Amino acid sequence: MVKICCIGAGYVGGPTMAVIALKCPSFEVVVVDISVSRIAAWNSDQLPIYEPGLDEVVKQCRGKNLFFSTDIEKQVSEADIIFVSVNTPTKTQGLGAGKAADLTYWESAARMIADVSKSNKIVVEKSTVPVKTAEAIEKILTHNGRGIKYQILSNPEFLAEGTAIQDLFHPDRVLIGGRETPDGQKAIQSLKDVYAHWVPEDRIISTNLWSAELSKLAANAFLAQRISSVNAMSALCEATGADVSQVSHAVGKDTRIGPKFLNASVGFGGSCFQKDILNLVYICECNGLPEVANYWKQVIKINDYQKKRFVNRLVSSMFNTVSGKKISILGFAFKKDTGDTRETPAIDVCKGLLGDKAHLCIYDPQVTEDQIRRDLSMNKFDLDHPVHLQPMSPSSVKQVSVVWDAYEAAKDAHGVCILTEWDEFKTLDYQRIFDNMQKPAFVFDGRNIVNVDKLREIGFIVYSIGKPLDPWLKDMPAVA
Ligand code: NAD
Ligand code: UDX
Repeated sequence: MVKICCIGAGYVGGPTMAVIALKCPSFEVVVVDISVSRIAAWNSDQLPIYEPGLDEVVKQCRGKNLFFSTDIEKQVSEADIIFVSVNTPTKTQGLGAGKAADLTYWESAARMIADVSKSNKIVVEKSTVPVKTAEAIEKILTHNGRGIKYQILSNPEFLAEGTAIQDLFHPDRVLIGGRETPDGQKAIQSLKDVYAHWVPEDRIISTNLWSAELSKLAANAFLAQRISSVNAMSALCEATGADVSQVSHAVGKDTRIGPKFLNASVGFGGSCFQKDILNLVYICECNGLPEVANYWKQVIKINDYQKKRFVNRLVSSMFNTVSGKKISILGFAFKKDTGDTRETPAIDVCKGLLGDKAHLCIYDPQVTEDQIRRDLSMNKFDLDHPVHLQPMSPSSVKQVSVVWDAYEAAKDAHGVCILTEWDEFKTLDYQRIFDNMQKPAFVFDGRNIVNVDKLREIGFIVYSIGKPLDPWLKDMPAVA
């Protein structure tokens, strides 16, 4: 029986291994983590992450050929294939801080593998890592290996949160990079055999290690670049009277461009795009390519500009001040169908509004009050170091409330801000919301999900990213 162990029971490790266990019933799959509470949650009815379809997959395999454990060393020593899916956040201190990937977790996992292994292993990079990481890992393993042979493979994950299970069931491609030696090719074949249980052969691509590592960073950079491109257009649409949805539709009809990933928004969020582009920028700089680094940096700059532009638009249209005004925030997760808030644009928007002394009433169907307060009290680069958490200042605490109902969030508010495209926000009774708000009543749609004409008929002043401006907004001072 093939034994697979995955180090890291997070958003990638958990769902990916659950799907491998489901599709490969003859394999034993064990997911290990240093976080006792995370493993306990994976073994409970309340999984640690919200992901449509995940509960069913886990229920079908858990206790049969899928296990979650904190007994890391035992499971690693017994495994044939070890996936490493630990977090690789942006470094917050030291060389490359604010850009380079922090490989502390990866390195400690590699050293532990070297310490406990008693048989040859295939070690699979599942985490997103800088190009050439496999070489460093290989050195750690072989210098501490006591004669044990390791083959390192790069097998980056392309799933998106909210659609992880469908993405894993039907991947556009599975990418496997390995050494171009006979042993390297044999290892690639072993991993291909795992995926071949459900992925068509022509979708399993093999490359050399560095191409696989770089392809992951490149794919995320290209995707984020599309969003920054359409968001840049959204600003121009507002200035000219064009409608960004119509422009996206027309542009996306070109088969060379394609229709996906062209939705203008308040900005992209999530744990990957910003981190991976910063990582790419750092690698370019280290390789003496400042022009290339600056090119990719612009993708992040436009994203920051978009979030700032949204806040400025909101404040300027509400008579240039939101001090003491109740603003309802609908949606805090970085996209719908996830409870994940890492790098969510809602953090920057809320902080911007709090800076202008607004009172925020926040509702998200999947994000807890604790999480929202933690996010709002963290410094930008402290996200992965909660021990350095600064408590929220007493005045900020009073400015934020979190509720479990959209109507309550909007009651007596001066403005409603939609920051996540949850389906339920499309079908709210906006007449009821309007009736219970202060007048003039504003809606700021950061996801282009409301019917602007209908809301204007009700009496709202509506701002929707990249759409022709409400006459009210046209009269307000220009925004930066
Ligand atoms: P995560 O933070 O949700 O999970 C990582 C887990 O690894 C945590 O539970 C942590 O406790 C555990 N861990 C850290 N060091 C460990 C160690 N030494 N031993 C055992 N466990 C350890 O992260 P994630 O979102 O699952 O991302 C993991 C990697 O996959 C990252 O490199 C990320 O860039 C990449 N990735 C993420 C996504 C996504 O959508 N989240 C998609 C593709 C790729
Ligand atoms: C992304 C990549 O899509 C995935 O392949 C990779 O493995 C991990 O990073 P994820 O961050 O989970 O996945 O979600 P994604 O759907 O890519 O959305 C990222 C952000 O972009 C979200 O905030 C989303 O709302 C935003 N977005 C996406 C837009 O603003 N407009 C779009 O057209 C698409």
